[in-house]
Amino acid sequence: MKSYYITTPIYYVNDKPHIGHAYTTILADTLARFQRLVEQESFFLTGLDEHGLKVQQAAEKNGMSAKDHCDKMAPAFLELWDKLNIQYSDFIRTTEDRHVKIVQNVLNEVHENGDIYQDEYEGWYSVAEERFITDKELDSGLFREAKKIKERNYFFKMSKYQDALIEKIEKNENFIQPTTRKNEVLGFLKQDLSDLCISRPKSRLEWGIEIPFDKDYVTYVWFDALINYISAPKYSEDDNHFKQFWPADVHLIGKDILTTHSVYWSTMLMSLNIPLPKTIFAHGWWLTDEKKMSKSLGNVVSPLTLVDKFGVDAVRYYLMSEMVLGSDATFSMESFIKRYNSDLANDLGNLVSRVSTLINRNFDSTIPLSKDSNNDLSNEISNINIKDKLDNFQMDRLIQNIMDFVRSINGYMEKNQPWKLVKEDKKLAGNVLYNAAESLRIATVMLSPIMPEKCKEILNALGATSSSLDWGNLKSGEKIPESNPIFPRIIE
Ligand code: ME8
Ligand code: MG
Repeated sequence: MKSYYITTPIYYVNDKPHIGHAYTTILADTLARFQRLVEQESFFLTGLDEHGLKVQQAAEKNGMSAKDHCDKMAPAFLELWDKLNIQYSDFIRTTEDRHVKIVQNVLNEVHENGDIYQDEYEGWYSVAEERFITDKELDSGLFREAKKIKERNYFFKMSKYQDALIEKIEKNENFIQPTTRKNEVLGFLKQDLSDLCISRPKSRLEWGIEIPFDKDYVTYVWFDALINYISAPKYSEDDNHFKQFWPADVHLIGKDILTTHSVYWSTMLMSLNIPLPKTIFAHGWWLTDEKKMSKSLGNVVSPLTLVDKFGVDAVRYYLMSEMVLGSDATFSMESFIKRYNSDLANDLGNLVSRVSTLINRNFDSTIPLSKDSNNDLSNEISNINIKDKLDNFQMDRLIQNIMDFVRSINGYMEKNQPWKLVKEDKKLAGNVLYNAAESLRIATVMLSPIMPEKCKEILNALGATSSSLDWGNLKSGEKIPESNPIFPRIIE
């Protein structure tokens, strides 16, 4: 049985993680949790990109060896993922032996099949992006700290695969998503693709994986990093294991690294003659004041501060609901507080305390009897198609659908007024509360991949033990605890 295999980029350890890194990682975690909820086993890989000039320079600046710098930075990522309740299946660091070995296997394999050659090269190198850029890119002014470099290096015959790659992208709708990104890559591929410089002489850069057939060189950081997606599932080391995961179902990335994934990685895989990932999905950027939030620009928001102040699930919810997958989104405290107060404190939190308080006061803290499994609410649930939204990467829409349902439960309460009804017809009021509580249970199960902790609290408040999405799994007669506010309003 093949697992649903989802990956995030492996992040550079030149600095601490920020909201952008937290975003992609939470998104992958949420998607993996949804897969486990509705469908199948999922395997979720994340990790760190520790080689290259950028990291070496950061280490020098801190007066440390590159390895010490990485060992010092890695815990900052691990601690953050822990705080954000990231349930990764594997965490890979490119300095680990298991990775180094497989990168060298790949280099040997590509070399042996004739796709690597040596040549003299002169070009502009962007340290920020860790790649050679074209004259046209240099003129665009978008690349900071570019410097001219002339040296003898090893090259990967990327150009050889240009036509085959174009065909793959054109034929397969799902491969590069969203469509705007697919068109961007196809546009890039209109000009002749050059070969990829995949080595750095040790005299200039020591911090990398040694090229197995020439000890004077290390391999280029991107060539090294991209291989993490197959080194973690043990490519070239354990065939049966590898086949349980590969091809990956989705590489989640930000649009900043679209070319390296769509073009470099795809052609590398073609040279190895292994299948391409099913989907490369590039999301947009979190901006602050119209600019990309980035470590080098120094305009980052710290996820830890937000978590400490508002709780992990409020942060997860905000990030997942505020960004339309594929477009950019602007981070602001104002929109954070607004969304928290309206969706979580008002619509969801108040509903939980209302329902549980009414059951506590009028039904001896016991889930009342249900009469009709066929009612407005139970019928509305079928409008939420989780799988369809996941298949189309519409996280914001999925959340909107679930929250619309939560608002319908509120509407149902307003319409039936169980607090009044209980004085006239207690059985009927009990039925109304059962329907509201059961609907709330199902909505909460649906929200649990996004807010695992808070949803557990809500289920607990409802005396719910089942995480089934089917109606009728809340047990009448079950005791519920005294209610506590789940999402206290943020007072500005
Ligand atoms: O590029 N908005 O690592 P990196 C949204 N090591 N997402 C953002 C973001 C923002 N403002 N800033 C960063 C690298 N990200 C390479 C990757 S993969 C084989 C090697 C997220 O530390 C987004 O996922 O610069 C982006 O693609 C990634 O962090 C880049 O992280
Ligand atoms: Mg970057």
